Amino acid sequence: MSDQYDKEIILIVDDNIITCEVIQRNLEMAGFHIFTAHSVNDAIEILSRQDIDLLITDYKMPKHTGLELIKYVRDHLQNICIIMLTGYGSINSAVAAMKEGADEYITKPFTDKELLDAVNKSIRKLKEKNTDLAVIYDDTWTRFGIIGQSQNMLEMYSKIEKACQNDAIVLITGENGTGKELVARAIHYNHKARSVYPFIPINCPGIPASLFESELFGHVKGAFTGAVQHRKGFFQAAEKGCLFLDEISELPSELQAKLLRVLQEKEICRVGETLTKKVDVRIIAATNKNLEDLVEKGQFRQDLFFRLNVINIDIPPLRDRGDDIIFLAKHFALKYAKELGKTEPEFTDKAIIALKKYSWPGNVRELENLMHRNLIMNDKDHIDSVNFPDIMKFNISCDQRLNLSLEDMSKKYIRDVVEQTGGNKAKALRILKIDRKTLLKKLK
Ligand SMILES: Nc1ncnc2c1ncn2[C@@H]1O[C@H](COP(=O)(O)OP(=O)(O)OP(=O)(O)O)[C@@H](O)[C@H]1O
Ligand SMILES: [Mg+2]
Repeated sequence: MSDQYDKEIILIVDDNIITCEVIQRNLEMAGFHIFTAHSVNDAIEILSRQDIDLLITDYKMPKHTGLELIKYVRDHLQNICIIMLTGYGSINSAVAAMKEGADEYITKPFTDKELLDAVNKSIRKLKEKNTDLAVIYDDTWTRFGIIGQSQNMLEMYSKIEKACQNDAIVLITGENGTGKELVARAIHYNHKARSVYPFIPINCPGIPASLFESELFGHVKGAFTGAVQHRKGFFQAAEKGCLFLDEISELPSELQAKLLRVLQEKEICRVGETLTKKVDVRIIAATNKNLEDLVEKGQFRQDLFFRLNVINIDIPPLRDRGDDIIFLAKHFALKYAKELGKTEPEFTDKAIIALKKYSWPGNVRELENLMHRNLIMNDKDHIDSVNFPDIMKFNISCDQRLNLSLEDMSKKYIRDVVEQTGGNKAKALRILKIDRKTLLKKLK
């Protein structure tokens, strides 16, 4: 277990200090290591820095309920059991707790034995689950729910960690499918204060320019035709939480100016109203474009770029993540095998080589789709490169690609194809989409 003394660690959350102390004393006597918290916020704080094996939480607490805490834990943490304490006769809350993912519930008042039985049962379950997980995550390493342990991913995690400790604007950059939204969510849900408030993703090009202000800042009744009642905008909906402005490069320039104003003033003005209102919202923006280039071309406001680029997290493309490619492939293969009721597939050496050689223009999403397709289409219990698309089989590795001229690369590619097709010229011609004469000429 996670404690330095090899004891299981339990976090008790109850706003009633006496109840907390009584449970603490009993469980300490039974050999557990105990933390206590008197509010959901304090509990989340402890959970973010301490490995907890079992959470025992009260249901009714001021500000945030135990139910919200359970939801948080199930969304963000693995390997933790939950016991909910409910007042007697409140079966509805017990049902709700189990629905949100509590493992057990005990109704108050309870005896020491009832408590200890429930605790032991939960810990037993956890140990069983951990043996399963140890198999699944054999050689897979995750942080913030993000898979990968290559050097550049580790550097990225330390940036995420910093971003979780303050409210600075974050600009996430990275190619398609590298995990920009995943990183944005990780930052939000690991933020001590904001995580219990909403994370609202907004796809910037998806909002028509004419509705942008009303969508983001809200409007009052009668502000324009169709504004039949007051309406909250995204900024208000995300109060104390986080707005994720995805594909920020696609924002038309007049809207860039409006957004800039809000970021500077930290206040919004609903459409149809003159009064401004302070807003407390963390902004995370993302793009797969190079904003500096766009600034130079005059397509993106420089002042907005500077405002957004406080913490920049640049997600490495998949092809630069070394063995993470294989960890991810195995993770997705297992995920879809389970979904399809199949056993975990083995990877052949050829598959491993092909996965590592390919340049992954679609990054993690492309890899995930490939694994999904393979598990659906392939009846065999292993993953082999024969079932990969041709482009992958004849792909020239990333390291080589950087040192080759176009001419050399095309020669190498042709040689590869001929070799891989075992000298079957007809097949090679089909793949290369050239005629026989050209092929012979090239081979010479
Ligand atoms: N390191 C990772 N570990 C586990 N899953 C990942 C990882 N990176 C990406 N994914 C998964 O890959 C998919 C794509 O990730 P996400 O949507 O965050 O990428 P994106 O950069 O926002 O993509 P796009 O450019 O298309 O908007 C998601 O299903 C995500 O959960
Ligand atoms: Mg995205």
